[in-house]
Amino acid sequence: MLKIAVMVSGGGTNLQAIIDGIDQGTITNTQIAVVISNNANAYALERAKKAGIDGLCISPKQYADREQFNAALLAKVQEYEVDLIVLAGFLVVIPEIMIDAYENRIINIHPSLIPSFCGTGYYGLKVHEAALARGVKVSGATVHFVDKGTDTGPIILQKPVSVLEEDTPESLQRRIMEQAEWKIMPQAIDWIANGKVRVEQGRVHITE
Ligand code: GAR
Repeated sequence: MLKIAVMVSGGGTNLQAIIDGIDQGTITNTQIAVVISNNANAYALERAKKAGIDGLCISPKQYADREQFNAALLAKVQEYEVDLIVLAGFLVVIPEIMIDAYENRIINIHPSLIPSFCGTGYYGLKVHEAALARGVKVSGATVHFVDKGTDTGPIILQKPVSVLEEDTPESLQRRIMEQAEWKIMPQAIDWIANGKVRVEQGRVHITE
């Protein structure tokens, strides 16, 4: 059984897709051990509570400096003995000590087709604003392993979504969530839980 920690900052619709996937059996062999938010008011924590999952807030504001926050975050994940850390809209930079401790065991969902519209400063609605400003006709979402760069780790899965003439950042965000994010994140977790994903020389290989 793959034990996962899901890290969130906001609404938690991707967390919900994971909870539902486990309930409905599209994600197998997986248990959410804990949901961690950096934001005490995140609706994602409410979703965890409703599903009977441990949810807690660890915020940089609670610590004297970044180093102490980083250490606390790592300690909590280690306390729950998780096998995989899932970043589901977690808007805090992952500490290097955590990346070292969980090499190829942290995954992230990003709301564009990497390497477009990713890296520092590209998160949430900003990604979709940039895609519309550039006039791309296709965007989408990417699930990838987390390395020490921003959105640079090995890509596990991507799904394209058409951009429509009348799209606003909000409508594009919603469609990318519905058509891509809520599908590929559960799929990636199920693959990992069932030993189908391996990383070799910075590239992901899937055995179906
Ligand atoms: C999602 O669209 C996710 O892809 C994005 O934040 C949103 C969180 O929504 N993540 C990033 O931009 C990371 N760079 P949710 O809380 O409803 O899952």
